[in-house]
Amino acid sequence: TTIHDQKLQRGEGGELHQTASGSTAVLTSAQGGPVSDDQNSLRIGARGPTVLEDFHFREKIFHFDHERIPERVVHARGYGAHGYFETYESLAKYTRADIFQRAGEKTPAFVRFSTVAGNKGSADLARDVRGFAVKLYTQEGNWDIVGNNMPVFFIQDAIKFPDLIHAAKAEPNSDFPQAQTAHDNFWDFISLTPESMHMIMWAMSDRAIPRSLRFMEGFGVHTFRLLNAKDESTFVKFLWKPKLGLQSVAWNEAVKINGADPDFHRRDLWDAIHAGNFPEWELQLQLFDQAFADSFDFDILDPTKIIPEEVLPPIAVGRLVLDRMPDNFFAETEQVAFMTQNVPPGVDFSNDPLLQGRNFSYLDTQIKRLGSTNFTHLPINAPKCPFHTFQQDGHMAMRNPVGRANYQPNSWDEGPRESPQKGFRSFAEAEAGPKARLRPESFADHYSQARQFYISQHPVEQGHIASALTFELSKVQTPVIRERIVSHLLNIDDALARKVADALGLKAMPKPADAAAPTRTDLPA
Ligand code: HEM
Repeated sequence: TTIHDQKLQRGEGGELHQTASGSTAVLTSAQGGPVSDDQNSLRIGARGPTVLEDFHFREKIFHFDHERIPERVVHARGYGAHGYFETYESLAKYTRADIFQRAGEKTPAFVRFSTVAGNKGSADLARDVRGFAVKLYTQEGNWDIVGNNMPVFFIQDAIKFPDLIHAAKAEPNSDFPQAQTAHDNFWDFISLTPESMHMIMWAMSDRAIPRSLRFMEGFGVHTFRLLNAKDESTFVKFLWKPKLGLQSVAWNEAVKINGADPDFHRRDLWDAIHAGNFPEWELQLQLFDQAFADSFDFDILDPTKIIPEEVLPPIAVGRLVLDRMPDNFFAETEQVAFMTQNVPPGVDFSNDPLLQGRNFSYLDTQIKRLGSTNFTHLPINAPKCPFHTFQQDGHMAMRNPVGRANYQPNSWDEGPRESPQKGFRSFAEAEAGPKARLRPESFADHYSQARQFYISQHPVEQGHIASALTFELSKVQTPVIRERIVSHLLNIDDALARKVADALGLKAMPKPADAAAPTRTDLPA
């Protein structure tokens, strides 16, 4: 950055002014009117009142007064970068999505990493899940893979999401803690929600305090479908593998870094990309069919379960490179709107009840947060392929239909038309059953994969999980909540449960939690 010599002049009041000269542009209002004096409001006499007529002052202050928009209701703190996705080879056998048809094809991408629970100003190294949201500007519209750095989730049904998030965020009366999981409300909810146990093992592991955003994995979490040109379906899980590998900090490092530099992760990404060290991830897919899905005790629609990579090795299908920071944080990183329902033809949803709920939630929240149905007109959200709709008007409309026809069918031979061949088609899954609030038995096992994760960890990492649980639960004031968590841990690993119970000074070991968690497969009487 060059620091230019500033030409300063004294104004009538003696204050210093920087005036336009040479290549410096003339300051204007938002209407384009040149401004003569940006430092003194219009007054009657040097010591008199400011006049209502001062339109320049009004515009400047009004615009400032409206600078803030609501922060995201979750994932408020985030940091993004531009880049591209490069397809390794054609996946036409599995999907008709244009992005996967040609080897070497590059698709522009924008990625936003985030923490979940903390507010916009919270510290980067809070123990938390990290969002890993990827927007791919494909030739068939935007495809958003709105994932996390952990492959499972706390709950099995989106209807519980408001409760989970209320419990995880600051308590409503005290408005703290703002970015830590260590509080009674969070652990109360968890202790009463056994399906969260697998995710809790991940959240208490070193994965929750990554060394850098560049050293994290990403997961689409849910099972999705790929559909080929014949509309044949293959189930798929999306995984992002960092070229740099996985690294985390230790908890005492995280605490110190948060104090010394709460922007640690942002700074790291900014510095790396500006230095030309472009972070890279490989997109890997776990592909399987219905027979394979049926071979498990658990349900592939249950977002608290993974398909172990040693059982179903992922295949690499492309790479994601981040090579450019946004020019403006607000315009791009803050206004980017990810939505799980943004999928191109050839990618489809499964019946995972968490995914189904998310597909509803994201459009709703974007309209609220960005303030207009026209948030897709913002450059960061607009498709980079040709697009034509009959949508019109609304606040801040910048892309109204051109010409006479703003409806179809019409007789004017104007406007866009549907395309049964090119358009999005859902997989024609046969559905039947009673309309009721049911939970399948295949969603009932909450401990096996939690155990599998725990025993897959190195003893040092297991020690970190025990310490994290002890630290978190030591902040919980209500004894029965601590006991309930230990009772769940007893169903995961006996030694872990005892270690945590001892460290917390529990007087007696509780009984293991009832592993036959309640499910509702029957209809109410
Ligand atoms: C935001 C991931 C579950 C509602 C986000 C973001 C990510 C994410 C990465 C941040 C996007 C960004 O960077 O702008 C996930 C994952 C989930 C999950 C991986 C489970 C597997 C849910 C559920 C709901 C939900 C169940 C509601 C039913 C929201 C909302 C936002 C959000 C409202 C804020 C969006 C915004 O204002 O831009 N989620 N989420 N999420 N998520 Fe989720």
